[in-house]
Amino acid sequence: MKLGKKLLILGFISLMGKCFSYCLLGFTAKDGQCSDENECSDHEIRCGNHTKCFNTNGSFYCHCESGFRNIVGKVNFTAEDGQCQDINECKEIPNICGNHSKCDNTIGNYSCQCDSGFRERVDGQCQDVNECEEAEKNKEMLCGQKGTCMNLNGSYWCQCPKGYTNYGFNGMTCSGLNCDSFSDHRGTAQSLGGLAAMLSTMKNNCLALVNSSAINETKLDGEALLEKLSTATDAILSGGLLKSENHVTELLSTVEGSILLIGPLLKHNSSKMETLQTETEIAVQRQKSRPTGPIHLTNQNAAVDTDWTTASGTGQYSGFALAALLTYKNLEVSVNRSFEGLKGHNRTEDDVDPSFKIFSKVVSVVVSNPSTQQLDRPVTITLRHLEDTEKTPEMEYVCAYWNDSGAWSTEGCYSQLSNVSHTVCMCKHLSSFAVLVALYPVEHTFGLLLVTKLGLIISLLCLVLCILTFKFCRSIKGTRTTIHLHLCICLLMADLIFLAGISQTKPKGGCRFVAAMLHFFFLGVFAWMLLEGVQLYRMVVLVFNATIRPLYLYITGYGMPLLIVILSAIIRPIGYGTDEHCWLSLENGFIWSFVGPVCLIIFVNIFFFIVTVWKLAQKFTSLNPDLSTLHKIKAFTVTAIAQMCILGLMWVFGTFQFQKDNIVGAYIFSILNSLQGALVFIMHCLLSKQVREEYAHFFSCICKPEKRYSDLSSTNPSSSSQSQGSRGGQNTGNSQI
Ligand SMILES: *[C@@H]1O[C@H](CO)[C@@H](O)[C@H](O)[C@H]1NC(C)=O
Ligand SMILES: *[C@@H]1O[C@H](CO)[C@@H](O)[C@H](O)[C@H]1NC(C)=O
Ligand SMILES: *[C@@H]1O[C@H](CO)[C@@H](O)[C@H](O)[C@H]1NC(C)=O
Ligand SMILES: *[C@@H]1O[C@H](CO)[C@@H](O)[C@H](O)[C@H]1NC(C)=O
Ligand SMILES: *[C@@H]1O[C@H](CO)[C@@H](O)[C@H](O)[C@H]1NC(C)=O
Ligand SMILES: *[C@@H]1O[C@H](CO)[C@@H](O)[C@H](O)[C@H]1NC(C)=O
Ligand SMILES: *[C@@H]1O[C@H](CO)[C@@H](O)[C@H](O)[C@H]1NC(C)=O
Ligand SMILES: *[C@@H]1O[C@H](CO)[C@@H](O)[C@H](O)[C@H]1NC(C)=O
Ligand SMILES: *[C@@H]1O[C@H](CO)[C@@H](O)[C@H](O)[C@H]1NC(C)=O
Ligand SMILES: *[C@@H]1O[C@H](CO)[C@@H](O)[C@H](O)[C@H]1NC(C)=O
Ligand SMILES: *[C@@H]1O[C@H](CO)[C@@H](O)[C@H](O)[C@H]1NC(C)=O
Ligand SMILES: *[C@@H]1O[C@H](CO)[C@@H](O)[C@H](O)[C@H]1NC(C)=O
Repeated sequence: MKLGKKLLILGFISLMGKCFSYCLLGFTAKDGQCSDENECSDHEIRCGNHTKCFNTNGSFYCHCESGFRNIVGKVNFTAEDGQCQDINECKEIPNICGNHSKCDNTIGNYSCQCDSGFRERVDGQCQDVNECEEAEKNKEMLCGQKGTCMNLNGSYWCQCPKGYTNYGFNGMTCSGLNCDSFSDHRGTAQSLGGLAAMLSTMKNNCLALVNSSAINETKLDGEALLEKLSTATDAILSGGLLKSENHVTELLSTVEGSILLIGPLLKHNSSKMETLQTETEIAVQRQKSRPTGPIHLTNQNAAVDTDWTTASGTGQYSGFALAALLTYKNLEVSVNRSFEGLKGHNRTEDDVDPSFKIFSKVVSVVVSNPSTQQLDRPVTITLRHLEDTEKTPEMEYVCAYWNDSGAWSTEGCYSQLSNVSHTVCMCKHLSSFAVLVALYPVEHTFGLLLVTKLGLIISLLCLVLCILTFKFCRSIKGTRTTIHLHLCICLLMADLIFLAGISQTKPKGGCRFVAAMLHFFFLGVFAWMLLEGVQLYRMVVLVFNATIRPLYLYITGYGMPLLIVILSAIIRPIGYGTDEHCWLSLENGFIWSFVGPVCLIIFVNIFFFIVTVWKLAQKFTSLNPDLSTLHKIKAFTVTAIAQMCILGLMWVFGTFQFQKDNIVGAYIFSILNSLQGALVFIMHCLLSKQVREEYAHFFSCICKPEKRYSDLSSTNPSSSSQSQGSRGGQNTGNSQI
């Protein structure tokens, strides 16, 4: 408190001393005299920015720099009067830059820039450049080969002869337009409603363009023409499916040609148009020099990425470039065919030909570059799938284009990557594109192959054993054994042919033969099974224990299948062998030449079995049953029924096995089919007491050969030279006797 007061008083005294004892305000003491103080030495503080400061005796004043003005309007001022502000000369001084010039205000000044097409003269005025004269001096052809150059204020106009047009734009080269491209070349317009009208609209507009030569003649309205085109396309496509490939080709090429005609007439540099059937986006660049930079056009279903260099081409630049993306919303149904051009499209060497279907909308990509057949840089086209699908191993996305010959092609296009919903295609040429999906037939997986091959080999071994047993086992000789024997032979042949030939689809003739042989032997299996049913029926119901004459057996067992195969081959020879398997074709019901007889046999056999079982049951309950015979017949019946079940069941799956996408069925069929022989062996040999006994005999003879040998040679000296099977049979025969 005390200290503060002291300081205050001290300060006051020193201040008073300065004022009164020395100099006035604005003057400073120097060498005992008061002289003027230069306030302008720190004028930015006293005057502010953009100012000039003037020092006077005992005072000072400020001016604004040129190009600035004091905000309150004073000429002589100090900082208290406010700042200096930039003057916007462009606004305040009318026509400051003169005619054909653009004024640009800067801080403290302004600048002038001549409009394009004008150049600054020495007097600072802007003067029109005579482009035509200058081009002539430089030996340039501003208007192309045919056009005549006319100078305009700020630009030039190309006067075009007939057949050429500058599309009504200043500075655009005369380019030739062939209006005949809007003619019905393929003769399809009459049969496709609306196409003739579209062609004539486009042709008339085209002619109007190439006929006009004067500067002020009709400028066509590109936007209106684009709308006309979209409406006409809608009219054509609202008719639904396009019937022929030519219609598709004609529509696509007419629309592409129309876009090339319309594009240069568009006023805006980007136009979009969406209708019921199409979605179009056209980007336009109209500038003197060839445009550069990327192009990205996109809509709901597709996107295209390229650059202006590709779109304008390397040929003569006419002052204009265009890129367009057009999506057809409903055309995919009409092009869900014509996949012939993709024959031979395969992922690996040994793939079979896949089937195709359309998997995206159809899009057309159009650029002003006249040579789009072989682009320097591929264009990226991203297409949305019709439905989101997780890719499976048998699927492949294929980028295809609609070839003018009326079919899908893949040359020059490949799919770069795809995910669940989109595929990215790279194409070296431009036209109309879509993503197709190639479906490869279900490949035989390793597991299936192993099961089939291994099972078939076991099966074949068992069948050979069965055949030897039935052939040489004396104790079981009879009609039933004959039937079993031939059933096994048919099955053996069928398995052998199946193993060797089912996939040998080439040559075609060989494949047909394999299919016919399989048909014959599998029918044979069923025919012999029918005979088994008949024989059981005879034994139990008719109580004929008599044998059937072998001739009848052969006629039924081999003749009937042969007859069916011959008839089928005569009626429809191409039904044998498909592209994937050497088996009966599934088309046109040809498979019924196998399934029909099989079903019939199964039904007849079911009838026989039911009657047999019923009679058998009666006999068991009769007063005086011959139990040993009945048990034998019961065993026969059970094996016959079991066998039929297995065979029948196998073919239920087998019939469908040759259809696609039936992995489970394929496995069941393969397992049952492969183990067929093993099952026959178990049922007819291992489960038969008589056969078991013979086997036992046979093996004991093998195991103790010396003893047996002496035994045998004493009773039957000739047996040692006989075959093993025969020996077994004989031994059993002996023991049975
Ligand atoms: C003067 O200009 C300087 C920068 O050049 C700026 O920092 C300062 O604020 C200005 N003074 C006034 C009073 O506007
Ligand atoms: C200021 O006044 C003195 C005399 O009063 C004179 O000598 C001097 O030149 C003047 N200075 C200016 C800048 O006018
Ligand atoms: C500004 O000051 C100068 C010098 O003192 C004087 O000549 C001039 O007339 C003054 N201008 C105005 C508008 O007061
Ligand atoms: C600018 O143009 C107007 C008319 O357009 C003309 O009267 C005037 O003389 C021109 N000015 C110059 C500097 O050429
Ligand atoms: C303003 O710019 C012009 C040229 O555009 C120049 O001649 C003039 O000297 C400039 N004025 C100032 C105050 O810088
Ligand atoms: C350019 O404009 C001037 C007037 O500014 C006019 O006299 C002249 O005829 C015009 N030239 C052309 C080619 O239009
Ligand atoms: C354009 O000119 C040709 C002859 O050169 C003529 O036949 C045709 O009718 C003309 N078309 C239009 C729309 O003027
Ligand atoms: C525009 O066309 C009309 C008639 O078509 C003609 O009389 C007139 O001279 C033309 N104007 C120009 C500037 O060419
Ligand atoms: C299209 O024109 C507008 C101005 O009219 C401009 O801003 C835009 O960049 C142009 N776009 C292209 C792709 O040139
Ligand atoms: C194309 O045809 C296939 C059958 O060939 C069909 O499954 C698919 O649904 C069809 N796709 C379209 C879009 O019509
Ligand atoms: C398709 O298979 C053929 C042989 O049939 C082969 O020459 C060709 O290279 C395969 N193509 C592909 C893409 O693997
Ligand atoms: C159409 O496809 C064939 C081969 O399928 C090809 O040789 C021909 O060049 C293609 N045509 C066009 C216009 O792409």
